[in-house]
Amino acid sequence: MRAITVRDRDAGVGGLTLTDMPYPHAAENDVIVHVHAAGFTPGELDWPGTWSDRAGRDRTPSIPGHELSGTVVELGYGTTGLTVGQRVFGLTDWARNGSLAEYTAVEARNLAPLAADIDHTVAAALPISGLTAWQGLFDHAHLTTGQTVLVHGAAGGVGSIAVQLAREVGARVIGTGRADDRDVALGLGAQTFLDLDTDDLRHVGEVDVVFDAIGGDILKRSTELVRPGGTLVSLTMPPTVQPKDGRAIFFVVEPDRTRLTDLAQRLRAGRLNPIVGAVLPLSETASAFARHRRTPGKTIIQVADELGTP
Ligand SMILES: NC(=O)c1ccc[n+]([C@@H]2O[C@H](COP(=O)([O-])OP(=O)(O)OC[C@H]3O[C@@H](n4cnc5c(N)ncnc54)[C@H](OP(=O)(O)O)[C@@H]3O)[C@@H](O)[C@H]2O)c1
Repeated sequence: MRAITVRDRDAGVGGLTLTDMPYPHAAENDVIVHVHAAGFTPGELDWPGTWSDRAGRDRTPSIPGHELSGTVVELGYGTTGLTVGQRVFGLTDWARNGSLAEYTAVEARNLAPLAADIDHTVAAALPISGLTAWQGLFDHAHLTTGQTVLVHGAAGGVGSIAVQLAREVGARVIGTGRADDRDVALGLGAQTFLDLDTDDLRHVGEVDVVFDAIGGDILKRSTELVRPGGTLVSLTMPPTVQPKDGRAIFFVVEPDRTRLTDLAQRLRAGRLNPIVGAVLPLSETASAFARHRRTPGKTIIQVADELGTP
């Protein structure tokens, strides 16, 4: 089968190669998914799981990409809950071969059924962004109606979903990003937008929650904006500075079939709109990873069309 693989950690995005790989094996409780559309995270070539299995052993050549939408073609031993021919979407394991391939093996519990009227390229944009935004805002920061949240990277994959979920719960949303991101962030529901290159973060005042999808200096400078009792959620790294009277949290998104189902229902009801900035073929994966200035939202790799034709 056709797949994108990486072998050499030092090669960076230049090491992403279209390769012929063996058809995957369905272990217990797995399904094999015929991948129609795949999502990736720009920095995943730096993640340990891209290179090593859970025991820390080298697992190259490995297939990146951890979001997918496709069709179940095979069930592993003992697998229940999904059937052959069913449309599904969800997350693949960080330390196993991923979704930038025609077929991949995934634990069934990491996937949710996908309604026939949701396009695979839209569904593939939802798993990591949707679950990360939900878990960060509500499970970790306990954001509620009437509170204020500052979303750094508001036009990005995760940030654009966070803005929409926060608005729907009745929070006041301040989005940040680059100048070009202003219209996207305001269009998604942010009440205010700050251009991080020109605007002063201190003008934001105090907020209940900082949801940071950028990291680095922006993360450090945001700790002082957290109101007493508030929370700073960092997606990129464990924070080295804590808010004076608040909490700072770093977490890695977890699979959650129930929440994926809820996110898909919101999408069908028109309450959630994942931004698909570009759809590219598998052969253009390396250039999709390498793009210096990216389009808003997620870049999706279309592996097969709706009829399953590669
Ligand atoms: N912990 C977890 O479980 C988890 C889950 C998902 C993602 N993440 C991490 O979260 C981060 C965001 O992921 P994503 O998929 O949302 O990425 P993304 O789509 O690239 O979104 C990041 C957004 O922030 C903007 N941005 C970055 N640096 C900026 C700066 N200095 N000034 C202004 N705007 C800036 C980007 O604009 P440009 O495109 O113009 O640079 C983009 O709009 C990544 O580091 C990812 O690895 C962590």
